[in-house]
Amino acid sequence: MPTQLPVLGYEAVLSAVTPRDAIERVEQAFVRFRAGQWAMPPKVYLDSPPFGDFRAMPARGDGLALLKWVTSFPGNPGRGLPTVTGLICLSDATDGEPLMVLDARSVTALRTGAVAAVAARALASGEAKTIGIVGCGLHGAWAARSLVAAGYGPGVCHDPRAGAAQALAAELGWRAGTRREAIRCDVVCCVTPGSVIVLDAGDLHPGLHLNMLGADGPGKAEASIGAVASCALFCDEWEQASHGGELTGAVNAGMVARDRVTELGAVLSGEAPGRPGPDAVTLFDSTGLAIQDLAIASAALEAWREGRVAAQTVSL
Ligand SMILES: NC(=O)c1ccc[n+]([C@@H]2O[C@H](COP(=O)([O-])OP(=O)(O)OC[C@H]3O[C@@H](n4cnc5c(N)ncnc54)[C@H](O)[C@@H]3O)[C@@H](O)[C@H]2O)c1
Repeated sequence: MPTQLPVLGYEAVLSAVTPRDAIERVEQAFVRFRAGQWAMPPKVYLDSPPFGDFRAMPARGDGLALLKWVTSFPGNPGRGLPTVTGLICLSDATDGEPLMVLDARSVTALRTGAVAAVAARALASGEAKTIGIVGCGLHGAWAARSLVAAGYGPGVCHDPRAGAAQALAAELGWRAGTRREAIRCDVVCCVTPGSVIVLDAGDLHPGLHLNMLGADGPGKAEASIGAVASCALFCDEWEQASHGGELTGAVNAGMVARDRVTELGAVLSGEAPGRPGPDAVTLFDSTGLAIQDLAIASAALEAWREGRVAAQTVSL
């Protein structure tokens, strides 16, 4: 008897899971992983020089097991192709049966946007409202949409591609502006390719919360080492963040040690304090975790089972 496997494409995933749902699910994923209820072995990189790399990212939790097979090919936009693309396979963790195949781009966009809102809720000042987006591509746009869903805004969108900044600003009722205007906001998300520094120590102002989302692999950075070292530091997962994240440069320079960095899950679980005080500058380093993907894939499976989204099927 062949298995009928549902397949959710880009648009189907985005219609199955709202940003608000994504935020709650991603927050719960961090708490469950912290409690040892969800498992996540380290991601495996497979280089494909000189083009980019593939990443295999597994996670297990709530009776489901997931593998994300996803790329980062920085030269792709020049060829009219997306930087990030790939597939997710979701299986039953009790008998190994495949349950669903999902487009990885949409899941990645939703979960990356969601963690920006989760980190802002946990670490930004209670007074924080305005949002600066530096880098208005796919993931910058989803960070902005998620922060709107969490009640933040209005904001300033900055991108050297003026059209990208204007389109996002028009969609959200915000405005496009300079880098300096974006960085003056209460919560700033940096979501550039990480090939040039967009934030220096002189840009930091009291009470600021930074979500550093763009540097998600070795050799990438969006903030200077001096800027990183002068913040109260948080990350999604220490091993990833210290080897292939925004923290890596400062760690390698000996300016930041393990005991200066708190994992977001520890704050969300109430095990560690968050913002040290109203005037502190908090920095959250997001490198992207498979538990976040599992949170979104699980919500999409639920939506399909409840008939809220239609899937294509393939017969195995
Ligand atoms: N942390 C995570 O979990 C996670 C997840 C997915 C992607 N990413 C990373 O996020 C980054 C952005 O990914 P994307 O898919 O949105 O790429 P994208 O190409 O869609 O968008 C990047 C945007 O940054 C803009 N940009 C380039 N240089 C800039 C500068 N100096 N100042 C301001 N804006 C600038 C570009 O014009 C573009 O609009 C990549 O490095 C990607 O690997 C991180």
